[in-house]
Amino acid sequence: MCGIVGILGQTPVAGTIYEALKRLEYRGYDSSGVATLEDGRLTRLRARGKLVNLEKCLRETTLAGTSGIGHTRWATHGVPNETNAHPHFCGPVAVVHNGIIENFRELREEFEAQGCHFETDTDTETVAQIIALAMKDGKTPLEAVREMLGRVRGAFALGILFSGEEDLLIGARNGPPLAVGYGKGEMYLGSDAIALAPLTNSLSYLEDGDWVVMSRESVRFFDENHDEVTRPVTQTSQSAIHIDKGNYRHFMVKEIFEQPEVISHTLANYINPLDGKISIPDLDLDWNGLNRITISACGTAYIAGLVGKYWLEELAQINVDIDVASEFRYRKAPMPQDALALFISQSGETADTLAGLRHCRGHGLKIASIVNVAESTIARESDFTLPTRAGVEVGVASTKAFTCQLGVLACLAIEAGRERGVLDEARVETLLRALETLPGHIHEILRQDAQIEEIAKSLTKSRNILYLGRGTSFPIALEGALKLKEISYIHAEGYAAGELKHGPIALIDEEMPVIVVAPDDALYEKTLSNMQEVAARGGKIILISNARRCDQNANNVWSCIEIPDADTFINPILAALPVQLLAYHTAVHMGTDVDQPRNLAKSVTVE
Ligand code: G6P
Repeated sequence: MCGIVGILGQTPVAGTIYEALKRLEYRGYDSSGVATLEDGRLTRLRARGKLVNLEKCLRETTLAGTSGIGHTRWATHGVPNETNAHPHFCGPVAVVHNGIIENFRELREEFEAQGCHFETDTDTETVAQIIALAMKDGKTPLEAVREMLGRVRGAFALGILFSGEEDLLIGARNGPPLAVGYGKGEMYLGSDAIALAPLTNSLSYLEDGDWVVMSRESVRFFDENHDEVTRPVTQTSQSAIHIDKGNYRHFMVKEIFEQPEVISHTLANYINPLDGKISIPDLDLDWNGLNRITISACGTAYIAGLVGKYWLEELAQINVDIDVASEFRYRKAPMPQDALALFISQSGETADTLAGLRHCRGHGLKIASIVNVAESTIARESDFTLPTRAGVEVGVASTKAFTCQLGVLACLAIEAGRERGVLDEARVETLLRALETLPGHIHEILRQDAQIEEIAKSLTKSRNILYLGRGTSFPIALEGALKLKEISYIHAEGYAAGELKHGPIALIDEEMPVIVVAPDDALYEKTLSNMQEVAARGGKIILISNARRCDQNANNVWSCIEIPDADTFINPILAALPVQLLAYHTAVHMGTDVDQPRNLAKSVTVE
């Protein structure tokens, strides 16, 4: 899940490529590089670590070329050092790549047997080698790329430059996204619309199997059979506005604090502000003909889906299967035709989720998706798209996208329940009015930020932390643990409270913080019993619940975080806020890189 950029420009392009890479850094940040063509010769600068290191190199050494490619890397094959950083050169060829060349070992062995020397440990270098060898045999760049496409297997988005060819840039896509941007006498290639937004709003997306041959004045698209095709030019809605942290120290905390606003934007898409009624635009489904919903997603989006399962089953009385997308496709589950396949993704590009979508499409299922990036591949390949309106999410640890996904799932469950006759109008009305109280209630929780920070300070010494919850609080326990381990590197586990006695109770001692998500709902008493089991063994309990329950347990627990009294339906959305803030402040006090934690990336476009 690297980010790639290419520009055929009128003036030197290295600086512009660097700026575009900054907008792609969410895809990976363990090394980066830029190559340009100067007087027909390829020159490059590469740096290990974050993009700022590349910026230093660019300040010290000028790359003057007006044609160039750039890359920000999330390492798959080969450690993240300068040698393995892209662009990779071989003879007259320079390549940047996002994805994995699955047959690179056999290709490499074949070429090494022919005497080729490989400089790097990457899979990408084989792409450059194949093209370079074909050109050595007298093939043109186009013929050589075509030959390479016939030989590599796997997932790739590629940008390729050739020495001596100032007006030629070739791109290719199989899996990870790639877009062509149109400028005035300039042409751009990029992993997404955000990268190209300051340069142009006119884009064409490559379809899977496509490759594209670009000059400053023309673009030719070819499909997987190498037939010339046309691809529509669309106007992207991605704004070129500079995305910054405002007055906040990190993007993550900015995004946490944006939640009252973005959740209300998201809900406004599904609850008509004039009559207060629910309407799910573009979702043309016979709810009564459906017997099952199959949800797949990854990471935090998967956890949102888990809350959705509880809601859809209770409110709409419909069976819901849910899988992490990387397992779903290989599970070989039956694919009943009366099922709806639902995919959830902030980026709309996650490789496993997209593969699951295509798997369902192959089985003829109807496909709906909840996505934050409206022009993403998952959105474009779905029959129905249910957008979240979270705005650009930069922090690698997802926060506002999660609560917005929950907002959409809540609306979906209500609509399904109404259509299926499970909910009467009065209950629908109550649930919708509960959703409308979310922005205000979220504000209330955010006001406890300083108190939550104090609690977080006490977590920084812990090696292990347990999160417990029941019902819709169970996924929030999972999300709390995931957030914490992602950004603080403290080992954390989320568990169904009832499962405590089947294993994790063995871990409990005076050193072990246990965060109990137990809002005042129908399952509270049950979770309380599990909490007592922890207390009896000396565990350090942090209770997330309503004021009344916090007061009652003041002597039992080490600390409490209150959530406001509201319809219990919205409790998982409210309880998400304290676990986000706890993770954030713990990580800040531990001095980790909150927005770009080690080894992670925001958009994971490899399987
Ligand atoms: C990565 C991110 C997570 C995200 C997951 C799924 O692991 O770090 O924050 O939840 O991918 O991403 P998606 O874009 O599909 O929601």
